[in-house]
Amino acid sequence: MQSQIQMSDYWNLQKKYLQPHFIKVILLGLLLLSMTIIQVFSPFLIQWYIDLATENIGRILFSSTKKTLNFYAFLYIILSLLQFTIYLGTVYIGQDLAWSTTNKLRYDLTFHTINLDMSFHNRFKAGEMIERIDGDINTLAQFFSQFSVQLLTSFLLIIGIITVLFIKNWIIGLVFFGFTIFAFILIYFLRDISVQNWEKERQSSSELFGVIEESLNAIEDIKTNDAIDFTLNKFFDKSRYNYKTFMNALFKELYILFGSWILLSLADILVFSPSFLLFENGKITLGTIFFVQMIVGILILPIYRIIRQVQQFQKAAASIRRITYLFHIKSEIKASGTKKIAPGAIELEFENVNFSYIDTEPVLKGVSFKLNKGKKLGLVGHTGSGKTTLSRLIFRLYDINEGNGRIKINNIDIKEYDIKNLRSNIAYVTQDIELFQASLRNNITFFDNRISDKKIIHIMFDLGLKEWFKRLPDGLDTIISSDEQGLSAGEAQLLTLTRVFLKKPNLVILDEASSRLDPVTENLVKAAIDKLLVNRTAIIIAHRLETLDNVDEILVLDKGKVIEYGERKKLVKDKNSYFYQLLKTGKIEEVLK
Ligand SMILES: Nc1ncnc2c1ncn2[C@@H]1O[C@H](COP(=O)(O)OP(=O)(O)OP(=O)(O)O)[C@@H](O)[C@H]1O
Ligand SMILES: [Mg+2]
Repeated sequence: MQSQIQMSDYWNLQKKYLQPHFIKVILLGLLLLSMTIIQVFSPFLIQWYIDLATENIGRILFSSTKKTLNFYAFLYIILSLLQFTIYLGTVYIGQDLAWSTTNKLRYDLTFHTINLDMSFHNRFKAGEMIERIDGDINTLAQFFSQFSVQLLTSFLLIIGIITVLFIKNWIIGLVFFGFTIFAFILIYFLRDISVQNWEKERQSSSELFGVIEESLNAIEDIKTNDAIDFTLNKFFDKSRYNYKTFMNALFKELYILFGSWILLSLADILVFSPSFLLFENGKITLGTIFFVQMIVGILILPIYRIIRQVQQFQKAAASIRRITYLFHIKSEIKASGTKKIAPGAIELEFENVNFSYIDTEPVLKGVSFKLNKGKKLGLVGHTGSGKTTLSRLIFRLYDINEGNGRIKINNIDIKEYDIKNLRSNIAYVTQDIELFQASLRNNITFFDNRISDKKIIHIMFDLGLKEWFKRLPDGLDTIISSDEQGLSAGEAQLLTLTRVFLKKPNLVILDEASSRLDPVTENLVKAAIDKLLVNRTAIIIAHRLETLDNVDEILVLDKGKVIEYGERKKLVKDKNSYFYQLLKTGKIEEVLK
């Protein structure tokens, strides 16, 4: 990350997200402008009132003078009320702008990061991402929608006040012109005093969220391993660090507050010393002194507002930098293919595929095999031998990153297919079943409301879920979460199979899909899987060899290398084959040392 704030980054973001709300921005500007005009005008009323009143001290007031005085007072009150109403309007439009612009930004950033490849997602923890996307954008909200407008109207107000002061008395005008210049020099020097500290604070806050999310995810393991104390320690460490970075940033920001106090005291001195001299010499009236005092009080406001915007800018700049950093990360998966996979079972070929997650540690080494249309491949290997990795490559969750190997579907490199089309044609079923806190329907359809209830129910009944389904209180509208609705691992598995049936994939990958189940559900799952595999090409990854009874081919993977590949029928009879040994001992660990 660069250390200097790139103004272009900020302007680009602002232009992109504010443009659609142009009318609101203009409206906000107009409201602030009318507030400015009222603010500059009101002190005149005070001056006129005082001057008229002091002129008449010791005299009997004419009724017309009384009326004029009352009129000034009345107008002053009306203008104050009007000013307050306009202020409410600016708050409303400001908030509305803040939310609508940043919601779009939040959406875009979420969409961008979701589409990044898995190496990105492995790098950032979920909690960290939440804090980055939501936290950083929240920091940006106010600033983002109001910065330019506030700055513009503040400058206008300052120019208006200085002009009026010059018209009143050029000496006073000159004094406050100098004062404003001094204020800006001060602001200039303090402009990015705490940016880096805020950036550290944002970073430490997202790390804290990362730890919280990690601990919550691993709550079962933490409890069973009696690791609560250690986990809390880590949490305290991160909290402490977050506190420290926050305080550092805050203290740096205090310089700005200190600067504004100096300005305030200076303004007071400047109002009274020259004014009284001028008053004594009869150059200005008492009303003018009040006027100057009031209007300088108002002059302080836009200067303050600019200071506040600068403060906001510092926090926002840190967030903008982190947001643009995320936007600049490009997916390593180039999704430029356009071809569509032909309907029907597919032919899958691995041609000398090498892959590594980390440069120095190859995970797949020259893997080659060819699976004809409608054939089923049993994939066997030690834990960590690369079975899941192999499946991920077919989905293009990662791309081959070593050598010149290729993966082909129907004799075409998978990179030439439209990535959405590719993924929609492959189904991947694992033991890790993710259920959403949502209705049963949405859990099955992934929120695609084009799929009819009839179709879902038909598939569920077909998969043997009739009894279970009838017990649900609200049918497809029942809110599912793995504990509450008494969903066993097997039932959850059957739900994911329902998802897969709806998808109608041409290639099915089962990653140890049937372990951990009780015998009754296992039979249900097995029957469902048998149905699923009809007329489809499939890869079945299994630790338990019984799962491989019906496959056509066997591939034995060892430390990323294919050490055996052949027809199951032949291997079963070949006493020298690994697979024969595996069947005999039933233990992968003994055969593949
Ligand atoms: N996201 C990742 N980043 C870095 N290394 C990884 C990642 N995923 C897996 N690995 C490593 O790659 C190797 C192969 O892992 P893989 O999950 O493909 O094995 P597997 O054969 O599916 O194992 P299992 O039978 O336990 O499921 C392992 O050494 C593993 O540590
Ligand atoms: Mg695996």
